[in-house]
Amino acid sequence: MKLCLATNNRHKIEELQAILGNKFELVTLEEIGCFDEIPETQPTMEGNSLQKAQFVYDNYGINCFADDSGLEVDALGGEPGVYSARYAGEERSHAKNIEKLLANLEGIENRSAQFRAVITLILDGKINQFEGIVRGKIIDELRGNGGFGYDPVFVPEGFDKTFAEMTMDEKNPISHRGHSVAKLVEFLANT
Ligand code: IMP
Repeated sequence: MKLCLATNNRHKIEELQAILGNKFELVTLEEIGCFDEIPETQPTMEGNSLQKAQFVYDNYGINCFADDSGLEVDALGGEPGVYSARYAGEERSHAKNIEKLLANLEGIENRSAQFRAVITLILDGKINQFEGIVRGKIIDELRGNGGFGYDPVFVPEGFDKTFAEMTMDEKNPISHRGHSVAKLVEFLANT
């Protein structure tokens, strides 16, 4: 089945392709000729992923899915959440986002956090959403060179390594995106 993945985030495309394997023919926005700035203006991950998928479905008429994800830190009331990418400003710098996060957590003992991902699939006009969560904690130093975003400071529950110290094969089965995609795959297998 041909499915367009409504994102321009190269890391997400790589991660999702690895998780989905070759059961589905993933087509990128570029491949369908979509070079638009896809709107992402909603206050929730559910809203944003729906907005992105709806934009592609309405304008390009192709079955598609979009994901929206973020880091939710317990002691910060769920921040940065939907604003994870631009936590430290519109330039969307991973380094500055981490710096701001660690500064806001200075002196705070509760380091519990979770990554959350929401996928919206639009299949023949019908909307379905799938959520994935991975719990963990924020450490106060950066470790590892892999992954992206907040990976160097996030240690998933049950592990000693940060996401940035893991290979994709280690991260994907336990990650928020991995869990949400597993639900998507299960749904697609049953349709
Ligand atoms: P999105 O592209 O709007 O979904 O924004 C997601 C943002 O959340 C990213 O830019 C990262 O800051 C953060 N994020 C989401 N997933 C991950 C992950 O797997 N590792 C590290 N950071 C992530």
